[in-house]
Amino acid sequence: YVLGIDLGTSAVKIILVNQSGKIVSEAYHEYPLIQSQSGFSEQNPEDWISAVYSGIQTVLKKVTIKPEAIEGLSFSGQMHGLVLLDTVNTVLRPAILWNDTRTTKQSQEILQKMRDFISITKNKPLEGFTLPKILWVKENEPETFAKVKTILLPKDYVRFRMTGVLNIDYSDAAGTVMMDVEKHQWSHAICDLFGIPMNILPPLINASDEVGTITKETAVLTGLSPKVRVFAGGADNACGAIGAGIINENEAMCSIGTSGIILTYEKGMRDYHGDIHFFNHALNNAYYSMGVTLSAGYSLSWFKRNFGKTLTMEEFVTLAEKSPVGANRLLFTPYLIGERTPYADSNIRGSFIGLDAMQTEGDFIRAVLEGIVFSLKDILSVYMCYQKSIETIVSIGGGAKSKLWLQMQADIFNRRIITLKTENGPSYGAAMIAAVGLHWFNNFKECFDQFIQVGDIYFPQKENVDKYNEYYGLYQEVYKDTRSLS
Ligand code: XUL
Repeated sequence: YVLGIDLGTSAVKIILVNQSGKIVSEAYHEYPLIQSQSGFSEQNPEDWISAVYSGIQTVLKKVTIKPEAIEGLSFSGQMHGLVLLDTVNTVLRPAILWNDTRTTKQSQEILQKMRDFISITKNKPLEGFTLPKILWVKENEPETFAKVKTILLPKDYVRFRMTGVLNIDYSDAAGTVMMDVEKHQWSHAICDLFGIPMNILPPLINASDEVGTITKETAVLTGLSPKVRVFAGGADNACGAIGAGIINENEAMCSIGTSGIILTYEKGMRDYHGDIHFFNHALNNAYYSMGVTLSAGYSLSWFKRNFGKTLTMEEFVTLAEKSPVGANRLLFTPYLIGERTPYADSNIRGSFIGLDAMQTEGDFIRAVLEGIVFSLKDILSVYMCYQKSIETIVSIGGGAKSKLWLQMQADIFNRRIITLKTENGPSYGAAMIAAVGLHWFNNFKECFDQFIQVGDIYFPQKENVDKYNEYYGLYQEVYKDTRSLS
């Protein structure tokens, strides 16, 4: 058996998987988010540790296997969060998370100070990424910064506590925007210019590298065998892509959760000039690129919270079936908290446009569903500008739970949409990293063949595709025309 540990933003999900890829036990342990001021989002790393340890105990309690039967484990983790350690590896302050937006000033200054920043990191220094967070601490809490001996990312801190070894894997290191993505090394140029001592950056390793075994103390606290082999693990989106079996250049994953992403596998370097995130993969020497819609599922849950409280989500979405393609010419843009791709604009806000006295609630719900998919199509449009061809899209998350929404994705994207029979997200990718690390399989391809089963396939329907192309043209105008309102 292997354990896949996904350190998410609201909880840790831990799964125990056998050699056939079947999940035999799982646990979901939550931890709090500390939001002391608007824009602040922090977590106490000790809360992660308690949740991971009690989560492993829960997983073990649910089965009757001997601890020695668990041969390996690996991690997936929320990206970009800043963990600061002192000389004795004590945490210096709460971790500043990816969804913390206090760093607008630092983000802007980075690009002003360093013109070739994107050519090194392949990404814009967005508020959510780690470098702006370090610069914020340096400016606002200099006494804390003076004590920093090591910086880590969330799942790397958990791995450190379990093994005693300090590392960051490439897929997460890329999200710090302090790494030279092509050279696979911390960037001297960035560290020199922004006054970050290189010796606070731990050694870089591959997500599939074996880092050792757990400590005796961890074995006692979790109930695992001290012989369990630990593989580094990777960033949640990279592990999610592995868990969904995305391994070809012309395949993408569409994941609609709170936010929405379109992610594709990249065999080698490709320059998107920061218009799309481009990170090192959790698969050795490969990369992945992705665009993010900040309010995807969040737009739907916001709308339901206000106008569909008494219904279940399924009943609410079913109401949209009464509305035709194009929602009787009602358009929705989902910019409730700004937008990342393609605009990187935290000020823009959403809109309903084209209100008509004949429209009903079904039209509004359909417009919300369509608007979310149009905003994801904007990501595909960026890919098309860069001549990246995407033929099939694997749909996961909330967007894969409704047949109506899946057909909408096929029609709006004008691509084949594939669903998976069982879908377990990044924790499954982490378990697969451990499975391949243990040589259960010769490579990831063999592991995919055993672990991943394709479900239903949705094909674009010509008549709908044509109608949606017209509406998408109108949708694209809305951003420009509503910018001055926010
Ligand atoms: C990616 C990002 C989020 C976090 C969430 O750039 O900010 O997807 O990884 O866990």
